[in-house]
Amino acid sequence: MQLRGVFLRFKQTIMNSQSIALGTNERAMLSVNFCGLHFSTPLVLLSGCVGFGEEYTRVVGFSNRDAGAVCLKGTTEKPRLGNEPHRIAETPSGMLNAIGLQNPGARKVIDELLPQLDFSETCFIANVSGATIEEYAEVTRLFDDSPIHAIEINISCPNVKEGGVAFGNDPDMSARVVEACRAATSKPLITKLSPNQTDIAENARRCVDAGSDGLAVINTLMGMAVDIETRRPVIGNNQGGLSGPAIKPIALLKVHEVYNVCKHHGVPIIGQGGITTAEDALEFIIAGASAVGVGTALFYDPLVCPKINRGIVEYLKRHRISNLGELTGTLVLNAPATEICTG
Ligand SMILES: Cc1cc2nc3c(=O)[nH]c(=O)nc-3n(C[C@H](O)[C@H](O)[C@H](O)COP(=O)(O)O)c2cc1C
Repeated sequence: MQLRGVFLRFKQTIMNSQSIALGTNERAMLSVNFCGLHFSTPLVLLSGCVGFGEEYTRVVGFSNRDAGAVCLKGTTEKPRLGNEPHRIAETPSGMLNAIGLQNPGARKVIDELLPQLDFSETCFIANVSGATIEEYAEVTRLFDDSPIHAIEINISCPNVKEGGVAFGNDPDMSARVVEACRAATSKPLITKLSPNQTDIAENARRCVDAGSDGLAVINTLMGMAVDIETRRPVIGNNQGGLSGPAIKPIALLKVHEVYNVCKHHGVPIIGQGGITTAEDALEFIIAGASAVGVGTALFYDPLVCPKINRGIVEYLKRHRISNLGELTGTLVLNAPATEICTG
């Protein structure tokens, strides 16, 4: 009886994936040129949510081909064990995480993990971190000498004591990190910005001036959960990064603010933060994103990507738009208020 249930679910998965599979023309509608790379769809599987690119390939019905790019887990020069548990906690409409950049070190990623990936399936993006500017530059240099398609600089990780968000919240430091990484690679360079700062648009401008080809907006927001019985923070690291639908409205506003800087330089944005549906993805694209990230949603639905792709195609057909690129930044603002009032 149980086996029959499993078989029926499997059959249903196959039938569903057939009904949402895209035809050649539909795929063409979704394709995006991102920093000179061909993304077959606008979806980017986000760093920290897909391991080193292999994690979900064991799930029946999942394919890296449903994403235009896959971003690998944050990588440092030396291996890191990460933070003490608990490392994750569920929150209303989201989750807190403080993994602490657990990774096996750049050399092992390049020598042992990259060769296991199928580079014909999608584009792969390395996610680079460091405690010093020199470490950022060195890890970038190591990935430059690898088959990776692009390099994302994570100056926005809230879960490490040195580097990460400490660099990303200071526009001078952000620019110095980007400059150093720029000098270390000729591959497309994407800088991942933190929402935990006063003026994200100014930081974006500085990163673009320093040589960033693209921007990723946003990383997680700092948050906390408290265990009322022990009166301790639930997360071992005391605080963690909040992701998932809870942060979507904030992420959308940040993408819009950064787009107002980027549009003058032709610098594309990977919009991200709480995307779970085609409608979410479309909101980000209209606000100014050229590509869109899917992270936390994969934890509860690893097969979400084909559904988002199908939903975007149906929207484009309904609005007689032949390619998604035409939609980026088409937001029409309401008449400006005479005074700022949010209440
Ligand atoms: C468990 C977990 C680990 C993450 N690790 C990284 C990381 O190593 N590097 C990074 O740049 N972002 C990391 N992120 C942030 C995500 O890439 C993404 O920017 C953020 O979660 C917002 O998107 P989402 O709401 O769709 O998850 C992590 C997020 C989660 C949930």
